Order: sequence, then C-alpha cells, then structure tokens
Amino acid sequence: MIGPTHEEVITDVVRRDMRSYRQLPRLFYQIQTKFRDVIRPRFGVMRGREFLMKDGYSFHTSYADLQREYRNMYETYSRIFTRLGLKFRAVAADTGAIGGTGSHEFHVLADSGEDAIAFCPASDYAANVELAEAVAPQEVGSGATAMMEKKATPGKTKCADVAAFLGLPLTQTVKAVAVMAEKEGGGEFVLLLLRGDHDLNEIKAQKVVGEFRFARDEEIVAALGCKPGYIGAVGFSGRVVADRSVAVMSDCVCGANEEGYHLTGVNFGRDLPRPGTVADIRNVVEGDPSPDGKGALELCRGIEVGHIFQLRTKYAAALKCTFLDEHGKDQVMEMGCYGIGVSRIVGAAIEQGHDERGIVFPASIAPFAVAVVPMNYAKSETVRAAANTLHAELLAAGIDAVLDDRDERPGSMFADWELIGIPHRVVVGERGIKEGKLEYKGRKEADATMVAASEMAMFLKQKLCG
Ligand SMILES: Nc1ncnc2c1ncn2[C@@H]1O[C@H](COP(=O)(O)OP(=O)(O)O)[C@@H](O)[C@H]1O
Ligand SMILES: [Mg+2]
Repeated sequence: MIGPTHEEVITDVVRRDMRSYRQLPRLFYQIQTKFRDVIRPRFGVMRGREFLMKDGYSFHTSYADLQREYRNMYETYSRIFTRLGLKFRAVAADTGAIGGTGSHEFHVLADSGEDAIAFCPASDYAANVELAEAVAPQEVGSGATAMMEKKATPGKTKCADVAAFLGLPLTQTVKAVAVMAEKEGGGEFVLLLLRGDHDLNEIKAQKVVGEFRFARDEEIVAALGCKPGYIGAVGFSGRVVADRSVAVMSDCVCGANEEGYHLTGVNFGRDLPRPGTVADIRNVVEGDPSPDGKGALELCRGIEVGHIFQLRTKYAAALKCTFLDEHGKDQVMEMGCYGIGVSRIVGAAIEQGHDERGIVFPASIAPFAVAVVPMNYAKSETVRAAANTLHAELLAAGIDAVLDDRDERPGSMFADWELIGIPHRVVVGERGIKEGKLEYKGRKEADATMVAASEMAMFLKQKLCG
C-alpha cells in the first residue's frame, strides 16, 4: 500500500499483537518511501510527492514513559544531525493536523529555508515564528499627553506613509485589520488592532476569534462607513481585539473612518473604550524579549528535516489500541511518533554547504570521502600502480575512496569531484611519485599540500575523524 505516514497502520499492528503491560514499551521504525498529495511540489527532493522517510512509533503504558522516550528521541535526533555535520536547531512546533500535544521540529539553518524561526542566542529557546510568543510589554505607555485631533492624510493608506507624512514614529501608529469571524447565522465583523510596525499572526488570531477571513471592502464600508486605508476603532462599537503591545500605547495615530483622514493623540479609555480583548496576535520581531526571559530573540530561516510528536492517545483511543495493566484493567496506550526526511536532508545539506564550484558535502553524507585522481592513468604505469596501491590502502583502512580511472583532462576530473562535493582529493602524478609524495586538497581549502605517499592513509584518517 502507498501511504503518507503510518500512524494508523502501526497502531493496528500493535493493537493486534500487544496485549499486556509486560510487552510495553515498544518502539518500531522503518525507512520507506512515502507518498503525499502535495499541492505544490518544489525544489526537487525538498518537497516531493514521493520521498524517503524514516518514521518511528513508540507505545507506552503511561504518559511519563512516553515523555521519557520523547526526551530520548530528542537527544538521539540531535546526535544524528550533529553527526551528519549539519548546523541545525530543535524548534518547539505547532502540532498541526496530526494532532496530539508536545512537538519539536529539527531545522537545518539556511537562508533559503521555507520556515521562519525565532531563537534566543543566550539560551536554547527556539520556536517556529507561527508559535513564538510575543510577551506582554513590561513598560506601560506614559499616558495621554495630547488631545485627539483629526489630520488630513490624503492618499496615505499605509501606517509607514502616514507616520512619515505626520513626522511621527511608526511605533505610534495603530493598524486596524478588519476580519469576518465565523459565527452561527453569518459572520461577525471584528477589528484586530496591531502596532504599525507589527504583522498579524493568523494562527494566533484564530485561537482568539476562531476561524476567520479578511473582510471585503463592502463589509468594511457597511461597518465603519469608510473604505480601507483610513479605518480605526474610534467610534466603532463592535468587537475589538488588540495586540498586547497596542494595549499599552498612548497618544496613538489611527484611521479616522473618513477617507483621507487620520486621528492623532488617540487614547484608550478616553477617546475609545479599552479593547474588549487583549491578546498576543502578532508575529515576533527581531529584538523582542525571549519568552524564557533570557535575552532578546533573533530570527533565522530553516528547512525542516525532522519532526517528533507526543501523540498521546489520539490514535490509540480512536483505534482502541489498549493493554491490560498490572491490575488486569484495560487501558489506552500512550503513543509517540518520530520522522526524519531522509531525501530532504540531501537537499538541506546542499543548501547549507555549497560554493561557486558546486556542493560542499559534510564527509558523513558525501557519496565518497576521498577521490583519488591519477594524472595520465591510462598511459603511465608508475601512476597507475601508485594510484591502485593508494586506493587499495585507503579501502583497507576503512576509508570510503573512489578511484577516477577515466581518461579525462585533469581540469575536468577536478571539476567533477568538486561539483559532486567530495570532501577530500588526492592527486597522483608522476613528478610527485619520484619524490615519494602525493598532492592533497580539501574541498574547502584554497591550496593543495604535498604529503608523503607512505603517510597519506594515516593523514586522511585523521582528517576524517577530526
Ligand atoms: N513532501 C515532502 N518531500 C520531502 N520530504 C518531506 C515531505 N514532507 C515531509 N517531509 C520530511 O519528512 C519529515 C516528517 O514529516 P512530517 O513532519 O509528518 O511532515 P510535515 O511537516 O510536512 O507535516 C519532515 O520533517 C520532512 O523532513
Ligand atoms: Mg513536520
């Protein structure tokens, strides 16, 4: 059968074969092709409809035992990606469609990554931007100092333009995002308020107002009597949800609900009621305090190469995967699942390691650790003998070496091995052999060095272990 992932299949196997607490915990894994109806396949192995995954599943008698295994997997995954030579981060993640509670993604850090990650350099805090909390501001605004005034702002519909036009900081502006929240018997018009320099986080907002869509122009006109670009919460009597950072602002700038006008010196509790709901509804930005209180957040991009979940009893309960405990009582199993995108790792390693000449693979995943490149292999017997000897010696030493016995120009042989990303190269040439030497060059190094032929295997062994 073809499958996108195998929680149901493995749960079915376990419920047939495992009956007693004595058979638990159990851990299963496979490395196998997955098939998914991906809407937009892209970047080759990065997001395909068919890809290789290592998927693992664990079954437990208790939540505590699942948590023990989850921590074990977290550390195992960290060791795997470290040994693969990748720069990565474990990131707290949303559990999404698969459900359950508690989840971490492992991201390879690369500018081309699809996911934005917030992390704290001073601690191990890291979270998907979708999830990272924007903590409530400590300092409360200085309070009202100005009177509310209406200012003409013709053609200025964006906070940045309004701020520049009025000569005020962007952080003093409030943008109102009009949405229609799902409600029985039609939608509810809701205004979401954000500081001008912040962006709405739709996932967070959804947790506050429920499913929603952006309001259409005619719905905005009907609710506020003004078209978008000049809207604000002053005079609006419907539901208002303000971001935490808006709730502490004073002397704000916002739309006047009149085309071509904005209001300055607007204050909550005086010019409009305090917002009905104050919540975290924005994306974190660089410099925000880390939710663990240990410093400031930075942002980077990542490629998800692994994902671990505490599924708890979501699948086991639905499929009645139970066991008999010590007292002979039927209990639902606790379950975890753990995936590594095997084929995506290849793409991620290349995104992280490349230069103008091609791939720079970490030695642990390069197709070969060493390329032995003889000059004139076909014609020179000396070279052929030396190259064959070295190749055999390296294999005997457990070094994964390839011998380039093609009859090509040296330049094109070098270019091929650099393109493929082989981390170490040894050139065997007649002149060097006369002096008992071979030429070594690392993929990342600019210059080659001469090494005694008799010491080459040892020399490479040290490079590969180091
Ligand atoms: N379409 C795909 N192509 C290649 N690799 C994928 C694809 N979808 C998922 N993966 C890899 O498999 C791992 C486990 O998958 P999972 O977390 O269930 O997927 P998703 O995050 O897409 O829901 C992911 O961390 C990712 O590395
Ligand atoms: Mg995932």
